[in-house]
Amino acid sequence: MSEALSRRGVLGSGLALAACGPKPAPAAPVAVPPLKAVAPFPVGSEIEVAQLDEPAAVALILRNFSQVTPNIELKMEKILREDGSFDFSGGDRIADFARANRLRLHGHNLIWYTYRPDAFARVTDPAAFARAYANYITAVAGRYSGRCVGWDVVNEPVAEDGEGYRDCLWRERFGMDYVARAFHLAREADPHAILFLNEYNLESLPKKRATFMRLVEGLLKRGVPLQGIGTQTHLSYDQSPEILAPAIRELARFGLPIHVSELDVTTRGKRLDVTPAPERLRRQAVLVGAAAEAFAALPHAQQYAFSTWGVRDRDSWLTKPELKGDRSDRPLLFDDAGRPKPAAAAFVRAVGRGRG
Ligand code: XIL
Repeated sequence: MSEALSRRGVLGSGLALAACGPKPAPAAPVAVPPLKAVAPFPVGSEIEVAQLDEPAAVALILRNFSQVTPNIELKMEKILREDGSFDFSGGDRIADFARANRLRLHGHNLIWYTYRPDAFARVTDPAAFARAYANYITAVAGRYSGRCVGWDVVNEPVAEDGEGYRDCLWRERFGMDYVARAFHLAREADPHAILFLNEYNLESLPKKRATFMRLVEGLLKRGVPLQGIGTQTHLSYDQSPEILAPAIRELARFGLPIHVSELDVTTRGKRLDVTPAPERLRRQAVLVGAAAEAFAALPHAQQYAFSTWGVRDRDSWLTKPELKGDRSDRPLLFDDAGRPKPAAAAFVRAVGRGRG
């Protein structure tokens, strides 16, 4: 009896919610057209070598995306060996995959504050350090010259609180000139790739965005060959979609190509968040739609690409146990089985609207 009552109570509250609360989440759509087929701009994804041996992953990538960004294969942590020599095996495999399948290749990344490799740190002589820095950038950008459409030359230079810039080995040795230096070196090694400055939380932290834009402006004024802005767009399902359009418009104000470079939307929420899973996926879809719509509204010449950071939920860095990820997170546009989620459908709808 009491069980029956409480079940009624639960059902009743569910009905009441459905009647006056937000609309229930739509079921995952049965058919969503290939993302790249509906978008009038390149649609990209992060991929990694392991996926190339998995036919289902390859099929999903080829069906939906026209551009790829290697996850880790072009990062210093993979390329630079302890003795200072280089390992290009992973990068080459992805570059060959991209070429064989006519996918655009986006290079990520040449210089990142997070690395402090011994091969560099042990070099104390300033001239020798400058030579090693130049040698690394020249070797990597040079190897993929003619193959990368663009490169994230410097990744995440701005401090999270927007008070200036991040400390790192590169800044310790060159001051903030490490940024300009990297761009000049990349330009020499690869005359054609579009050179990007890539950063995260630019949508949610206005102060960080302002500092980032000041950095961009200063570099442009000095004639540094910075040619594109990458906004990673790692979002959380509980953020407001309204922050996205004004932020993306502001990032576009210098007229440079924009790359939504690493979109994902975590569904984890804050501690004690009891929002049901379907509602999280619905709000995730709203955010993805808003990001896609804001991107689609940019002038065509500024639409470099709209990229997600991974294909299926289980491919995401946010779900990987080895990165202390959470297997219950659902950050991407395709589920673990590769089926399109409401977020994929929202992308398709938004891009349709943006085309007007
Ligand atoms: C992440 C990768 O997905 C992980 O596999 C790796 O171990 C750490 O980096 N911002 C970036 C990306 O610019 O390079 C990061 O990728 C995610 C955050």
